[in-house]
Amino acid sequence: MTSEQPRPSAPSAWVRESNLLWYHRWIIKVLRAGPIPQHVAFIMDGNRRFARKENIDKAEGHAKGFDKLSETLQWCHDIGIREVTVYAFSIENFKRSQKEVDTLMSLARDKFRRLHEERDKLHERGICIRIIGNMSLLPVDIQKIMAEAVLLTKDNKKSFLNVAFSYTSRDEITHSIRTVAEGVLEGKLHEDDIDEEVLNGCMYTRDCSEPDLLVRTSGEVRLSDFLLWQSSSTVIYFTKTLWPEFNIWQLFSAVFYYQRCHWQVSSIRNALEEVSEEFEDVTAAKSSSQRNKKDERVRKFLNDVERKDRENLIKLTSAITLK
Ligand code: FPP
Ligand code: MG
Repeated sequence: MTSEQPRPSAPSAWVRESNLLWYHRWIIKVLRAGPIPQHVAFIMDGNRRFARKENIDKAEGHAKGFDKLSETLQWCHDIGIREVTVYAFSIENFKRSQKEVDTLMSLARDKFRRLHEERDKLHERGICIRIIGNMSLLPVDIQKIMAEAVLLTKDNKKSFLNVAFSYTSRDEITHSIRTVAEGVLEGKLHEDDIDEEVLNGCMYTRDCSEPDLLVRTSGEVRLSDFLLWQSSSTVIYFTKTLWPEFNIWQLFSAVFYYQRCHWQVSSIRNALEEVSEEFEDVTAAKSSSQRNKKDERVRKFLNDVERKDRENLIKLTSAITLK
């Protein structure tokens, strides 16, 4: 099987060159005859088990995990997947030993510094980077380089990489509810205005699409507080492979699996849309002037939330840090 893997290409870079062989390209052509998931999310699990298995340091296991991430991003690009979300650091991971948390923070620091060096390639490929998570829990210098990466790539529109860092869904949902509650307290929103659209607009993933396919490696069969709000109709693919050993054949299998489930999922999505249309019909019973006022309030409130988040990012970029 190893001889059938793509040729290795520059590791440790975020943006790589394609390393596919003719038969990988042929399989991609076959895959493209069916629906290609536009947004794939990954729970990259198994770095430490890989390190134990290979008798290397945990830190090296995580570094190999990053290399696999950049290789996987290139494969996704080759297949035609436009948006990728990765679970890079859960809020739960803060409970690991201080040494391991520090290791993961230095890895993030190094990689995000490196990302700035790759700015030309990011712009050429039109890659927009988003950080989803509670950045206030991170060291200030990391907040700063992450904010710089987001602002640097915010106008790129060809593909999207959402890095979930210091993230859990429960924290995200709590954050959203708190933002909405503040809006009501400040009189910017009415209680009756609160609906899924408003909560959605206050999530960290506000600008992301819902994932079509979620892949979890390492044999664990759970979602671990990842994208719970966003994945009600996502196809979920579990593989026993440890993340640093994930290969293009498993990605192909995940996409094939998605294609097998796709019709079922699209009928669920259509049914959900019908329910929300019926709900709109009920609310349409209110007078149109009432509805217009509500729409205007919600639009203004969500614009305000977005503006504040943007201002916060800009403020972070001018933070003075020692590292
Ligand atoms: C899970 O494996 C992996 C992590 C907690 C870290 C994932 C991070 C990377 C792959 C690097 C990405 C870095 C950036 C900067 C985007 P585990 O530690 O839970 O391993 P185990 O399940 O074998 O214990
Ligand atoms: Mg794990």
